[in-house]
Amino acid sequence: DAGETKMMIEAHALLKKFYHHLLVNTKEGQEAFDYLQTRGWTREMIDQFEIGYAPDSRDFAVKLLLGRGFSPSLMEKAGLIIRKENGDYVDRFRHRIMFPIHNHHGDAVGFSGRLLGEGQPKYLNSPETPIFHKGSILYNFHQARLHIRKHQEAVLLEGFADVISAVQAGVAHSVATMGTALTEEHARILRRNVDTVIICYDGDASGIEATFRAAKLLADAGCHVKVATIPDGLDPDEYIKKYGAARFQRDIIDASSSLMTFKMMYFRRGKNLQNENDKIRYIEEVLREISKLPNPIEWDYYLRQLAEEFSLSLSALQEQLNRYKGTVK
Ligand code: UTP
Ligand code: MN
Ligand code: MN
Ligand code: MN
Ligand code: MN
Repeated sequence: DAGETKMMIEAHALLKKFYHHLLVNTKEGQEAFDYLQTRGWTREMIDQFEIGYAPDSRDFAVKLLLGRGFSPSLMEKAGLIIRKENGDYVDRFRHRIMFPIHNHHGDAVGFSGRLLGEGQPKYLNSPETPIFHKGSILYNFHQARLHIRKHQEAVLLEGFADVISAVQAGVAHSVATMGTALTEEHARILRRNVDTVIICYDGDASGIEATFRAAKLLADAGCHVKVATIPDGLDPDEYIKKYGAARFQRDIIDASSSLMTFKMMYFRRGKNLQNENDKIRYIEEVLREISKLPNPIEWDYYLRQLAEEFSLSLSALQEQLNRYKGTVK
């Protein structure tokens, strides 16, 4: 109900403020602050994203929240504390870097806590609660929205770290899903705000697979999809650390390609296009994709591209395409 929602949001606001204070002003938070420095994030970003530190204590949040009169069962429902078998309440987040997650109004409604080093789980997230639905929240959407509108474009990344580094690099219209795949709801939210979405997932195998899935959902929601690919298996955050903001902007974001071009690059991987069999397989895969495009101008554009590259007649490609069109969907 509305009263409970309000209390849960207040509790998140309070805890977020304390976690941030611990990180930036106290000795307890020094190790976490040092860790963030090694990641290259400026104090300005730490403040803007309200990053914090959950101390290595079993009941820091419990004491703070209950001391302020919040009900323990409600705080458990909000995912902030956990009730043990013996009835004791303990903190969910301990000794982690805390990233508050805001809803689209800018209220903190959940957290993700990162380990200071390696280990599992790397990120511990708030559970689904009455105010926190992973399937309909995009990280940083509340801050990115105006930039998204202004640029008529959104950049979709995989993780928190990628968003923070991208924003620090000047790509303010960046958002991310949170460890879950993009949902139809996410796609609808993006579509309501923008025509073009640039998917810029990690350059590893799972990022590439996820790009295909996200691209389909976004296209089905009516978005114009572009793909920015990161080389060498790096993720956007790692790329920015390694090559800097200007190259990220120029060689990755500005150089993003159409979805079809991305697919063509994907189909080329592991093939030797000098080899007859590989070449034919490649052409068939591309034709099959072309046949799924809704727009005859696009068919024509990519057919010509294929015809040119492989010195084939346009009419032969056209004929094959018509066969595929009869068989899809
Ligand atoms: P990645 O494994 O790519 O992590 O997961 P990352 O974003 O590069 O993290 P850093 O750079 O090591 O800090 C991408 C996203 O998946 C979610 C998080 O949202 C993360 O940002 N995730 C990942 C989890 O929720 N839990 C995990 O244990 C790992
Ligand atoms: Mn901007
Ligand atoms: Mn990843
Ligand atoms: Mn990553
Ligand atoms: Mn990373």
